[in-house]
Amino acid sequence: MRIYQEADYEAMSRRAAGIISAEVIRRPNCVLGLATGSTPIGTYQNLIEGNKSGAYSFKEVTTVNLDEYKGLAPTHDQSYRYFMQHNLFDHIDVMPENTNVPDGLAADADAECARYDQLVASLGYADLQLLGLGRNGHIGFNEPGPAFVKETHVVDLTESTIDANARFFASADDVPRQALTMGIGVIMAAKRILLIASGSDKADALYAAICGPITPDCPASILQLHSDVVIVADKAALSKVTAAGVSVCE
Ligand code: GLP
Repeated sequence: MRIYQEADYEAMSRRAAGIISAEVIRRPNCVLGLATGSTPIGTYQNLIEGNKSGAYSFKEVTTVNLDEYKGLAPTHDQSYRYFMQHNLFDHIDVMPENTNVPDGLAADADAECARYDQLVASLGYADLQLLGLGRNGHIGFNEPGPAFVKETHVVDLTESTIDANARFFASADDVPRQALTMGIGVIMAAKRILLIASGSDKADALYAAICGPITPDCPASILQLHSDVVIVADKAALSKVTAAGVSVCE
């Protein structure tokens, strides 16, 4: 596990975009696993700038997103499909048909999860999977629980996640209670994983993910078992990790 400590959100975003763009340059037809949330927005802005400048192209890239709220249409402004269109896909040269997000409106959500697993497997899994980090240590929408769930599945969101994501909705009551999320096994099948985190409200979760026991109480802790993980985080998010004496690259 390589940990890059950056000064702030902007530097974290530049570093993360640099790692993703290097993958796209090295392997123009790569499969990128993508994430939502506020953390990747700056990373996506950097990727948009690089693409517009002609430094690299997403024409041959396929994307697979981690998750989607159950019950939200792609046109709903809080759906993750809408987020991806608005924050990345509409501004780069990726082929729309090569972008994949679970369908939150599928009549049979379990069948949609199975379809998504087959799709990601048929693509050979992500070459590089980008992850944010929930305040409770969740990745995708894999919430803390009694066990790691391998496959893509429907999950009940925790109160902590509903509270954290309420800022994007009119009220906490409007936050969907369920989501479809790539399972831990699918995430761990990615060849390389890039986790980004910013701000002091991620410090406890990042410490637990990197330094704590490998436990489904902190889903991100499973990343300790992956052979190629890069963490890019700012000083505030890494404060507890560095205080524990873990060495980081600057
Ligand atoms: C949501 C997403 C996660 C994301 C998390 C953190 O719950 N499902 O993929 O990592 O939020 O979001 P933020 O980056 O806004 O803190």
